[in-house]
Amino acid sequence: MRPIIEPFRIKSVEPLRMTTREERRDLLAAAGWNMFKIAAADILIDLLTDSGTGAMSAEQWAGIMRGDESYAGARSWFRFEARVKELTGFRHVIPTHQGRAAERILFACLDVKGKIVAANTHFDTTRANVEYVGGRAMDIPVPEALEPQAQHPFKGNMDLGSLTRLLGGAEGSVVCVLLTVTNNSGGGQPVSMANIRQVSAMCRKAAVPFYLDACRFAENAYFIKTREPGFADRTVESIAREMFSLADGATFSAKKDGLANIGGFLAANDDRLAGREEQLLILTEGFPTYGGLAGRDLDAIAIGLSEVVEEDYLEYRIASTRYLGEGLVRRGLPIVQPPGGHAIYVDAGAFLPHVAPTAFPGQALACAFYEQGGIRSVEIGTFMFGGKDPQTGGERSARLELLRLAIPRRVYTQSHIDYVIEVAGEIAAMRDTIRGLRILDEPAQLRHFSARLEPL
Ligand code: F0G
Repeated sequence: MRPIIEPFRIKSVEPLRMTTREERRDLLAAAGWNMFKIAAADILIDLLTDSGTGAMSAEQWAGIMRGDESYAGARSWFRFEARVKELTGFRHVIPTHQGRAAERILFACLDVKGKIVAANTHFDTTRANVEYVGGRAMDIPVPEALEPQAQHPFKGNMDLGSLTRLLGGAEGSVVCVLLTVTNNSGGGQPVSMANIRQVSAMCRKAAVPFYLDACRFAENAYFIKTREPGFADRTVESIAREMFSLADGATFSAKKDGLANIGGFLAANDDRLAGREEQLLILTEGFPTYGGLAGRDLDAIAIGLSEVVEEDYLEYRIASTRYLGEGLVRRGLPIVQPPGGHAIYVDAGAFLPHVAPTAFPGQALACAFYEQGGIRSVEIGTFMFGGKDPQTGGERSARLELLRLAIPRRVYTQSHIDYVIEVAGEIAAMRDTIRGLRILDEPAQLRHFSARLEPL
């Protein structure tokens, strides 16, 4: 069988710096065993995130030069607005500097205090923004989402029984329902069109606004095309449009499926809500025709939003993620099955059963990948989601202890990924020697970004 190749060639390159194992050991200690505190120059393969780390196309760089930096009514804004409206169909588009700015404005304007925001799974910044304004972020994924080994084509789906209960007022008033497509914290798993339709219908009936966290909408749409009956002959663009048409609004980080290095938007159909959002935008982000971005960024995003739905690109994108996942499994690492869109999630809890959740098996594995091969990844487990519950004050631990290897878009080639797979094999051979960690100091919110740790 012919390999699925990268559907691009390389015009501009960035050198990678090799380090020794001894150097990396010292660098880890200096960084407090926190991946966010290691300098990029000391990383060989950076799989920390797929966010803002992609390579732009020649067309996007040309768009950067066309950028119109006028404060109000720039040409770049009209190109951006036109593409976002064409793709999403929403009445109001509010540009933001990245996804979390859209979240902050949305939850501030929705009057979330004391009420519930229900999601398939909140991303960490989404949860933090809900809680920051006094709301309760509740995750109601389908039960399969909690079983890493379970094979299910749409493990990102929301559990409709739980949604019925919540919308019925079982735990308080629900102010917004959010579907994260694909479900990042739940393993990068897609949400089916059937699920989006059902959630949409239930929210309309209950008069509760339904939003998409659409960061990875194109990857989700491609999974719908290839996995859900009835969509094989549809274009990804038309599937994406249908997804958006079922929602009342969306938050979007253009750092993922915008194929840009910065940017985002908040979109809504509700005129009054959008008016309030624009006022807050002016206060903290900027005038509504640039919203914290340069004109050139708006152009790069507008072009990225067209390139990302190209099916050669998406076929390669999803195949390269699957290639990493299959390689890790061959080397003995259990992963969340099936491989997701933008990342592979190693089940660190299952891989390191001798490390307790409170000793952060995912973080211990992240440190092993760095020390062994200069590879940076991120823990998605008790280190990220644990800590004190703001409602109960008790310690909370994550439902799964995962390590995410996220793949930047259009950046690494197959031999880079082969290297990662070989390093994983070396780690599998020494897994009994991997020790857990403990936290030395941590901030009140989003502790994984800045906490310092030490090995037990
Ligand atoms: N929602 C989801 C599902 C995300 O994955 C992210 C970011 C955001 C919202 C926030 O967007 O970073 O532009 O403010 N995810 C990155 C990641 C950081 O590594 O998964 P942002």
